[in-house]
Amino acid sequence: MQFEFNEQQKMIQKMVREFAEKEIAPGVMEREDKEEFSRALLDKAGELGLTGICFPESYGGSDGDYISYIIANEEIARVDDGVQTGYAASVSLCAMPIYNYGTEEQKQKFLVPLAEGSKLGAFGLTEPNAGTDAAAQQTVAVLNGDHYVLNGSKIFITNGGAAEIYLVFAMTDKAKGVKGITAFILEKGMPGFTFGKKEHKMGIRSSQTQELIFQDVKVPVENRLGQESAGFKIAMTTLDGGRIGVAAQALGIAQAALEHAIKYSQERVQFGKPIASNQAIAFLLADMATQLDAARLLTYRAAYLKQKGQPFAKEAAMAKMYASDAAMKITTDAVQIFGGYGFSREYPVERLMRNAKITQIYEGTNQVQRMVIAGAILR
Ligand code: CAA
Repeated sequence: MQFEFNEQQKMIQKMVREFAEKEIAPGVMEREDKEEFSRALLDKAGELGLTGICFPESYGGSDGDYISYIIANEEIARVDDGVQTGYAASVSLCAMPIYNYGTEEQKQKFLVPLAEGSKLGAFGLTEPNAGTDAAAQQTVAVLNGDHYVLNGSKIFITNGGAAEIYLVFAMTDKAKGVKGITAFILEKGMPGFTFGKKEHKMGIRSSQTQELIFQDVKVPVENRLGQESAGFKIAMTTLDGGRIGVAAQALGIAQAALEHAIKYSQERVQFGKPIASNQAIAFLLADMATQLDAARLLTYRAAYLKQKGQPFAKEAAMAKMYASDAAMKITTDAVQIFGGYGFSREYPVERLMRNAKITQIYEGTNQVQRMVIAGAILR
């Protein structure tokens, strides 16, 4: 067994940490307060090769491996997981399925700019009545000669409005339920494709979340991803991978909370001694560190399996569920250690606690992860 990153992965970890601390950290509170999405930071990630880290050079990538991509997610999330959310939505949920299911023409046209970081991607699955029940899609696509006509809408779309390339799911045969969903690649600027309500969120406020609206949008047949009716499987397998990214996001948040809690508890003096010298605090820190380690092992195990081309859906769900619950617990405990200061927006831990919450919710609530895990072990 190998419990260490290899030399290249360590180099990437160091490079991303430096990038995150130098470029992303300075504006974190301002972006948070103003709900400001920074395209410039994602462009910079592209220049550093991070948007193409897990794709071959022939598709605009930098020929790294999948574990390196997960390392990049953890390191960016440690500093600003709003930025990481935009990054992961583009790479995991848009570029990756085009790489896995796209034709050579689609890869050249859409994957190359996504991997190079010159274009940003998004994933449009969720609708007002199709959240956990992803099969209840209302958006419809009707074939009309050489194009499909799309009508409907999508909500809570990360990078909505900001992205240039959108992977959108629509019903091509309603009677067939999950077997009647098809995936399409849409481009910003297509007539009839507009953006609606922007969400004001509890956390990850530096990510942009907006509604997509389709009114008689003509999508050329060559923009269909995979076969007609293959959309649900494309969505589910894409989310399997995306969940490892969410687990890495949770690791980054929890790592930051633990670091802040350790530092604060060694500096904060009450009753004449640092609060860390009380077992009540030291044991809390010990639990936080242990939970974080367990979450990290699950996350990198899932990434390792995906990288090796082995089945990983169950392990990804376990990692996402455990790491997000651990992040919620660790950030809550960090706020507790900070006491009243932890509740203040002047200190970083309240932001981490708010942000941890989304990792238990998106890319399938943790109840969904249990459905996936239970399905796999009972099958
Ligand atoms: N891989 C491959 N195939 C899969 C699959 C997977 N992971 N999961 C399901 N399928 C297949 C099944 O095998 C089945 O096909 P067959 O009949 O041929 O065997 C078919 O799909 C239907 O499967 P189910 O009956 O299990 O499907 P279901 O409707 O009961 O759904 C679910 C199961 C796990 C709840 C699923 O709907 C789900 O994951 N829901 C959550 C959706 C979600 O994560 N949404 C997140 C939105 S995106 C987001 O959050 C991103 C962001 O903003 C950053």
